[in-house]
Amino acid sequence: MTILVTGGTGYIGSHTVVELQNAGYDVVVMDNLCNSSMKVLDRIEAITGKKVPFYEADIRNREDLEKIFSNEKIDAVIHFAGLKAVGESVQKPWEYYENNISGTLTLLDEMRKHNVKNIIFSSSATVYGNPAIIPITEECPKGVCTNPYGWTKHMLEQILTDIQKADNEWNVVLLRYFNPIGAHKSGTMGENPNGIPNNLMPYITQVAVGKLDHLNVFGDDYDTPDGTGVRDYIHVVDLAKGHVKALKKLEPGTGLSLYNLGTGVGYSVLDIVKNFEEANGVKIPYVIAPRRAGDIATCYSDASKAEKELGWKAENGIREMCEDSWRWQKNNPNGYED
Ligand code: NAD
Ligand code: UD1
Repeated sequence: MTILVTGGTGYIGSHTVVELQNAGYDVVVMDNLCNSSMKVLDRIEAITGKKVPFYEADIRNREDLEKIFSNEKIDAVIHFAGLKAVGESVQKPWEYYENNISGTLTLLDEMRKHNVKNIIFSSSATVYGNPAIIPITEECPKGVCTNPYGWTKHMLEQILTDIQKADNEWNVVLLRYFNPIGAHKSGTMGENPNGIPNNLMPYITQVAVGKLDHLNVFGDDYDTPDGTGVRDYIHVVDLAKGHVKALKKLEPGTGLSLYNLGTGVGYSVLDIVKNFEEANGVKIPYVIAPRRAGDIATCYSDASKAEKELGWKAENGIREMCEDSWRWQKNNPNGYED
């Protein structure tokens, strides 16, 4: 079975390519490299011992897609390609809607032209907005998103649902990720943000490596045990393995499936700082700063549906997530440029 991985040189995509190859799948990667480096392909090959066929290609470009679907015999697509910076999406809504929504519509059209009607889509817990139920089950109603990035996930879930409803040859899996952190155990692959990181763990690792002075903890007056925001952090390799398990939901006649991918455990910002310090013996200086606009107090999953139906459960705990994030950052202070 050959899987096309869009956005396959990115953070989650690259770890998923490793797990797919380890599980014996043939993989083809496409990416326009707007937020990733081709250097990751050598790192993948060093881990799996297998070459990664790669196309520098854009999901918005029909010629690019035409070439891939004509050259390769693709059975299913795992679709990671997209822009994902929340703050930037507020500044550049057109760019986010155009890239993520137009791009996905073009991809879906080329897929159906080539009779490839199996897709796993990267969605996000952000679609729950300020969640009505904690822990969040898949039955929790979708909420109001606070930014265009979140709306692209919300809308693309609806688009994929409607397309599957209209043509039951499609098999669609929507995966709602909670907060992916961590890196490959080898320390050779990990998250490689451009500029100053927005997300908590890459910010912490850059403080640890001395690139940033201290962490700003965004608010300590939330209705949580220590007042700081609580999230469901999941190791990126567990997340990647969730995609491999989800492939079984692309068997003919399965239709639409939807899963949370999280651990079911919530940690506060200060829990993460403490765990990182203990796991790695590095001090993380922090100051309490004002709340960040659009943040919610608490967000963690009920992950039991994926366990029951996919036989998937996150295996790594918070210690491994902290150790692996740090090993990657320490060995590669400048990401894939090192
Ligand atoms: P990433 O930026 O590392 O990877 C996305 C990849 O898509 C990048 O390599 C980028 O170059 C590529 N890309 C963007 N637009 C493209 C286009 N038009 N054509 C071809 N390639 C394009 O991000 P990631 O963290 O690996 O996220 C992967 C997916 O998971 C995204 O869709 C993201 O929205 C979603 N997601 C991520 C998180 C998270 O916390 N990282 C959480 C929930 C959902
Ligand atoms: C953010 C996005 C979400 C996206 C997810 C993964 C927002 C509002 N939400 O989630 O849409 O799917 O990333 O990309 O941006 N924190 C600090 N200091 C920091 C950074 C973060 O205290 O420098 C806190 C935050 O307030 C939050 C927690 O750490 O309580 C996690 O933040 P982050 O890693 O940015 O993830 P989310 O906000 O959960």
